[in-house]
Amino acid sequence: MARLLVTGGAGFIGSNFVHHVVEHTDHTVTVLDKLTYAGNESSLAGLPEDRVRLVKGDIADADLVDTLFADTDAVVHYAAESHNDNSLNDPRPFLDTNIVGTYTLLEAARKHGTRFHHISTDEVYGDLELDDPARFTENTPYNPSSPYSSTKAGSDLLVRAWVRSFGVQATISNCSNNYGPYQHVEKFIPRQITNVIRGIRPKLYGAGENVRDWIHADDHSSAVLTILDKGQIGETYLIGADGEKDNKTVVELILTLMGESPDAYDHVTDRPGHDMRYAIDSTKLRTELGWAPQYRDFDAGLAATIDWYKANEAWWAPAKDGVEAFYASKGQ
Ligand SMILES: NC(=O)c1ccc[n+]([C@@H]2O[C@H](COP(=O)([O-])OP(=O)(O)OC[C@H]3O[C@@H](n4cnc5c(N)ncnc54)[C@H](O)[C@@H]3O)[C@@H](O)[C@H]2O)c1
Repeated sequence: MARLLVTGGAGFIGSNFVHHVVEHTDHTVTVLDKLTYAGNESSLAGLPEDRVRLVKGDIADADLVDTLFADTDAVVHYAAESHNDNSLNDPRPFLDTNIVGTYTLLEAARKHGTRFHHISTDEVYGDLELDDPARFTENTPYNPSSPYSSTKAGSDLLVRAWVRSFGVQATISNCSNNYGPYQHVEKFIPRQITNVIRGIRPKLYGAGENVRDWIHADDHSSAVLTILDKGQIGETYLIGADGEKDNKTVVELILTLMGESPDAYDHVTDRPGHDMRYAIDSTKLRTELGWAPQYRDFDAGLAATIDWYKANEAWWAPAKDGVEAFYASKGQ
């Protein structure tokens, strides 16, 4: 049994991880989350109080972080500003949280000798051409495109430097696009599902040719637990489930699974600098640490996600109108 500190544990992937930890281990969890617009306390509802507690606070608050690290065996760092579109609108919070926040945590890990796992994204590698057979590996050079991905790249490099310079006991994982329950309605899949539920036509950026490599959030969680358990200090592991799909295919699948005509959507102006294709080669994680994804059928995982959004309108409805107003102001 270990005492985990999970930053950003009230967000999408962090809350999925906390549910996964409660179900599959006997660890206790302290969630440190600022509860920004993206954090939702109700994503942790129903979890046992003797296993999970929520501390509302900022990862850049050095005094609070120091206090929490004193009672922690291992940290899993999910907290971030995470939405590309917001980073184009107002980059500053991305620097404060993703860079300064990660620095603050690393200094505490250094002081307390705490095991640290840093969660990152495949977007640090930039994008691939549609006709390029290559996939990202741990050796792909960093080439981020947006303020979001560049601040995530910066945070990864800080972690590497704190391992090398100060001996911090850290690992890093870069994961592909996640889907599943508890994802904010600003993001692509939940936005389209909730649009269909509300009777609004889904919106597709440009021609919808952009390819994303989808993984269920629960598979991301099992990979992170595997790395915490067996990962080599100082190493980076790519997490992916061979789930490449273009955005047009995903929108059409959502419509079909929800009983609508697959062409009942609108094209909207593409966002600037929109990455073309992401694809992960997770051979290292699979062969060295023995991890494998459980959700291998994207259609079934997506159908279950649609069911979750249908059953949990009270969870997402408060954010929906604001998100659509934001996109409408951008013509998207
Ligand atoms: N969503 C994906 O597909 C994806 C893929 C790969 C990696 N990631 C990474 O996973 C992590 C989580 O992503 P997500 O999609 O769950 O994001 P999210 O936006 O849903 O959640 C982020 C959480 O962090 C909290 N937070 C933000 N700033 C904070 C601060 N200063 N202090 C404390 N808490 C703060 C928010 O309140 C929220 O609960 C991020 O690091 C992201 O880069 C996401």
